Amino acid sequence: MATPVLDKEYLKEIEKARRDLRALISSKGCAPIMLRLAWHSAGTYDAKTKTGGPNGSIRNPEELKHIANAGLENAVKFCEEVKAKHPKITYADLYQLAGVVAVEVTGGPSIDFVPGRKDSMESPEEGRLPDAKQGAKHLREVFYRMGLSDKDIVALSGGHTLGKAHKERSGFESLPWTNDPLKFDNSYFVMRMLSSQIMQYHIRNFQSWASLHLPWELLIRAVLELLLHLLQLRCYSVTFSIFTKRVK
Ligand code: HEM
Repeated sequence: MATPVLDKEYLKEIEKARRDLRALISSKGCAPIMLRLAWHSAGTYDAKTKTGGPNGSIRNPEELKHIANAGLENAVKFCEEVKAKHPKITYADLYQLAGVVAVEVTGGPSIDFVPGRKDSMESPEEGRLPDAKQGAKHLREVFYRMGLSDKDIVALSGGHTLGKAHKERSGFESLPWTNDPLKFDNSYFVMRMLSSQIMQYHIRNFQSWASLHLPWELLIRAVLELLLHLLQLRCYSVTFSIFTKRVK
């Protein structure tokens, strides 16, 4: 298919589609899946062969059936409503614009949108997107293939500030990764850092308990832990009372 002509009319249509997407995403609360659609459309890119990537081929039923794309048929359907009103815009541009608007609508930064993507119905082979059940080596292979770096992997993973897993799609427990799955902020990273610190604390604690053998060693340790916890509770209650007094 031909590359879109980026004349005044096309750019005007993009602006109108942006407005329509904003209304649609806000009313349906579907920002997470729209961002995931944009990412899965782009994330098949192979920098060496220059194949895959954001060319709209994700609407091809064959590609939508790829295991990694489970659930994305809903996002493709939502985009059809906007495509029907702005047929000039390519699917390739539309899906990326949906991702940009999803970030904006949920309170993220406004992103300059560069239009001009060409449509294709030629889908890449299955397996180009990352598989959450595999480790760091696999993630690196997938992102390096796209021409991205370790830093990019970490930064882009912050997209999980939105949405959640769905058992019926990915098989992962249906829990949001952050307190507000419809708010774009850095809480995904804050939560990850906190949980890894808590995990390290427990590992250290377990190791030090495991190194104790004699009953009196265990007893002293238990009393010390209890005192520490009581002290912590006391600190919490003092902080809480100061806070509530201030609020009054
Ligand atoms: C680093 C490799 C990545 C892996 C392994 C991964 C894996 C997953 C998985 C397993 C889900 C759950 C799907 C479901 O059950 O509905 C998910 C959801 C999601 N992913 Fe990723 N992802 C990755 C990167 C990204 C990137 C780069 C973005 C965007 C910048 C992103 C955005 C999202 C969003 C917004 C959702 C929530 C979708 C919803 O709530 O419907 N992911 N991801």
